[in-house]
Formats: sequence, structure tokens, C-alpha cells
Amino acid sequence: MDWRIIVTLVLVACIMIPLFIFLVTGIMGAPYVPSEAPDIRKAFTELYALSDKDLLIDFGSGDGTVPQIATEYGAKAIGIEINPILVWFSKHRLRKNKNLKIKHANMYRYHLPKDTTVIYMYMLPQGLESAYRHIKKEATRLDKTLYLISNAFDLKKVKPTEHAAPLYLYKITPEKQK
Ligand SMILES: C[S@@+](CC[C@H](N)C(=O)[O-])C[C@H]1O[C@@H](n2cnc3c(N)ncnc32)[C@H](O)[C@@H]1O
Repeated sequence: MDWRIIVTLVLVACIMIPLFIFLVTGIMGAPYVPSEAPDIRKAFTELYALSDKDLLIDFGSGDGTVPQIATEYGAKAIGIEINPILVWFSKHRLRKNKNLKIKHANMYRYHLPKDTTVIYMYMLPQGLESAYRHIKKEATRLDKTLYLISNAFDLKKVKPTEHAAPLYLYKITPEKQK
């Protein structure tokens, strides 16, 4: 084959594959749009006083800024991200921060560690509703109360414990076992 055709095919693949990954992972919960740093700090001070007693999980961690800021408040943090490009990028960017981990996983299937105290999300409403149901099951499995901070969107049928625009805080208690 002519080398020009090969080079063109490689270039097209280099553009199309990442585009495809961002499209598919965006459809699964939310496209990659980062939270604004002042909103993240507001979440960890005004809505939920994050401290060294907390393990924060960011469901859909993007470039890892949310877990990174969480560690500034003394917390441990784990970012769960489905997009392998963002996982690679955030792991590389934050490799020196020993208080956080980034994991490549689907948040709807991720089992929360027993030390988890708070989950942060910036997801579209449908992704938020599905994740809420998953977190409720996890709270029941772990038999502990968990807190959920949602940026920008609220749950349809659950009243937030606190609201400071654009953020919502939910207290998620375990289901009563029969
Ligand atoms: C709106 S961005 C928020 C990024 C980051 N949490 C922030 O607030 O800056 C949503 C992220 O969730 C990721 N995502 C979407 N569906 C997911 C899923 N099922 N499991 C894990 N991550 C997911 C997307 O790839 C994207 O990076």
C-alpha cells in the first residue's frame, strides 16, 4: 500500500478513536465537563465540611481535579473514571499525590470501600438517578450513612439535606433489612 494512504489512515484513527471514546463514555453518564474549582471548594466547606476523617469518591472523575482538591482538606480520595484517556491523563498528572487514587471503572458497578464517607458527582440527571440507586444499595451493604454531593442537578424524588447553588447535598441512609 502507498505510504501516504497508511499515514492518512493512521492520522484518521488517531482522531477518530479518542473522539469515539469521549462520545461513548459521555453517553454512559455525562460528557467530560469539569466542575469549577470555586464550586468544588464551596462543596467541601459550605455544604459538607471535608476533613482528614473522610474518604471522598468522585464518580466520574474526569481530569482528577475534584479528588485533588479533596486532599487539600486532609481527606483521602478516589476518582472513578470510565474514559481510559482521562484515567491515563489524571493518573499521570496526579502521580505524586499519595492521598488519592484514580481507578478505571464504571461507577454503577463500583463497590465503595468501607471507609467511604462522601461521594461527589457532576452527572446528567439520568446518570445521577442511577448512581443514587447504586449508592443506596452500597449504603445498605456497608450498613452506614453516606453523603452525596451533586453539582448542578438534583434528584427528582429525594429532598436535599442542604442546597447552596449550584450544589446539592443528600444524606443516604441504609435500607432497613428484613
Ligand atoms: C461532567 S464530567 C465531571 C468530571 C469531574 N467529576 C468534575 O466534576 O470536574 C463527568 C465525567 O464522568 C465520566 N463518566 C461518565 N459515565 C461514567 C461511568 N458510568 N462511570 C465512570 N465515569 C463516568 C465521564 O467520562 C466524565 O469524565
